[in-house]
Formats: sequence, structure tokens, C-alpha cells
Amino acid sequence: MLPCRSRIDSAITYYESTFVLQAKALVLNNSLLEEQARNPTLVNKRSFSKLQNKVCLITGGSRGIGAAIAQRFAQEGLKCILVSRSMVELQKSCAGLPGLDHKARFGDVGERKFWVELGKEFKDVDILVNSAGIGQQTLLVRTSEEEIDQIIRTNLIGTVYGCQIIGKNMLKNKTGSIINISSILGLRGSSGCAIYSASKAVSKTSGFTKALAQEFGPSGIRVNGIAPGYIDTDMIAGFSEAMRSSSALKRPGTVSEVAEAAFMVATNTYINGSTITIDGGLSFY
Ligand SMILES: NC(=O)c1ccc[n+]([C@@H]2O[C@H](COP(=O)([O-])OP(=O)(O)OC[C@H]3O[C@@H](n4cnc5c(N)ncnc54)[C@H](OP(=O)(O)O)[C@@H]3O)[C@@H](O)[C@H]2O)c1
Repeated sequence: MLPCRSRIDSAITYYESTFVLQAKALVLNNSLLEEQARNPTLVNKRSFSKLQNKVCLITGGSRGIGAAIAQRFAQEGLKCILVSRSMVELQKSCAGLPGLDHKARFGDVGERKFWVELGKEFKDVDILVNSAGIGQQTLLVRTSEEEIDQIIRTNLIGTVYGCQIIGKNMLKNKTGSIINISSILGLRGSSGCAIYSASKAVSKTSGFTKALAQEFGPSGIRVNGIAPGYIDTDMIAGFSEAMRSSSALKRPGTVSEVAEAAFMVATNTYINGSTITIDGGLSFY
């Protein structure tokens, strides 16, 4: 047994060290609060992201909306697998992502074989974003058979294959989130975009996203859509300014605005079977 004096000394030492630790925590907390006041974005990034180290596969990741979603997710610590057909653009987009361990895979989302290979190579995808897509600017009667086939194959079949093959892995893992980038035109249509509108009805109108949400939901997998209006990317570069700015906000949306919506859908664990419209009010008209 320690002599009485030593016991008092060790008790004092214990309380002193506890006090020092508490004081250090207070100083750290205060400095974090001060830093937050100076630069809120920096501290937000430091706070632990729900998505840290998760794996996302993003089709159409070489540019436009897909590339912006990859940027946003990579900022949160996600490991991205980017998919598109153009090697150079895709590598550039991949190299520009913050963080490590991102990958690029070249291929056509309309090819089932390509998806089967992706499914075998990447068995632990937590988030699948189907953003690959091509537009249309021709009246139906002037649209060639090849064009019809390419639009349907890329926008619709590509999304279906992605959901089926990556979704199967998610079912085994009993976790996952799928985000299908649809379009407001899938709901309201537009002259010169008949096939595109049909191909984009994967969300609201055809109930594809809602059907999958019902099939996958009991296994803990959420399936949602995002339906953008006119967003400033290569896809609408040839559109007139009047059309690009035809929303109530009188401007096209930005890719980062869509990426924020994707981040919200990816992190909110009770959003399921929904399609988030992000169109500046275009769907009022
Ligand atoms: N921009 C808009 O106003 C708008 C509005 C509503 C919905 N959306 C939808 O948002 C998504 C992204 O469009 P965006 O505006 O970002 O267009 P974008 O800038 O033209 O990008 C399209 C992306 O899809 C890829 N892609 C096209 N066909 C592919 C295929 N067969 N296989 C693999 N990748 C393919 C392209 O890469 P490669 O060419 O290298 O393959 C590119 O990365 C599309 O699904 C589009 O329908 C866009």
C-alpha cells in the first residue's frame, strides 16, 4: 500500500492531467470553431463524411454532369470508377479528381458484355450513378434507324444493364444506392427530342426507378432518379439561348447544382423511389 503522502500526490497528478486534457480539448474545440467561422467549407470537408472510402461507379464520367458528380463525391473521400467511351477525356477527368484510388474504364454502356466485365471487376460498388447519355435534335420523321437505336441503347438499355448487373452485386452485399440521371424531357417531352424523351422516361413516367426501389428496397438498396432541366454542358451547346434559358430562373443550371442534388440523394438514407427535379422551374410550363 502507498504511503498516505504518495496517494495524495498521485491523486493530484491524476486530476492535473485530466484538467490539462480537458483544457487542451477546449482549446482545440475553440480553434475549430474559429476556423469554421473563417472558412466554413474547409471545416465541413474535415468533418467525417458519411461517404468516406465508399466506392462509386459513374457512367458518363468523362465530362458534364457525370464528371461534376465524380468531383463532388471525390471531395467527400469516395473512390470513383469513371466510365465512358473516350479514353483521353476520361483519363483527364479521372486525374483531376481529389484523392487517390480512382479508376477509369473505357467502354460503351449499351454493350452488355462491358457491364458484365465491370460487374466482375467491381463487386463492392456502393453507389452507381447512370449519367452516360446522348441527346437528340431531330424531328421523329427525320431520325434514322441507327440514331434511334443508339439513343435507346445508350440512355435506356445502358441504365437498365447497369441497374441489373451492379444491382445484383449490391443485392449480395445488402447495401447500395443507385442514382439514374433522367431528364425533365422524360416527363414533358420536347419537339425534336421524341426518342430522347422516350429513352429518358426511366424515372418518373415509366416507373422503372420506382419499380426497382420496390424490388431492391427490402435488401437495403435505394434507387432514385434526378431529372435535370437544361444544364450547361456539351449536350445543350447547340441549343438556342432562348431554349437554354427557358426556365423560370431564365438561365441554364450548372453541373455543380446537379452534383449537389446527387450528393443529397446519396447521403439521405430515407430517400427511395424518388426522382428529384432540378430544372429552375422549367416543369411549371
Ligand atoms: N445537359 C442537360 O441539359 C441535361 C438535361 C437533362 C438530362 N441530362 C442527362 O444528363 C446525363 C449527362 O449529360 P451531360 O449533359 O453531362 O452530357 P455530356 O456532357 O454530353 O456528357 C455525356 C457523357 O456520357 C458519355 N457517354 C455517351 N454515350 C456513352 C456510351 N454509349 N457509353 C459510355 N458513355 C457514354 C460521354 O462520354 P463519351 O462520349 O466519351 O462516351 C460523356 O461522358 C445524360 O444522361 C443526359 O441525358 C442532361
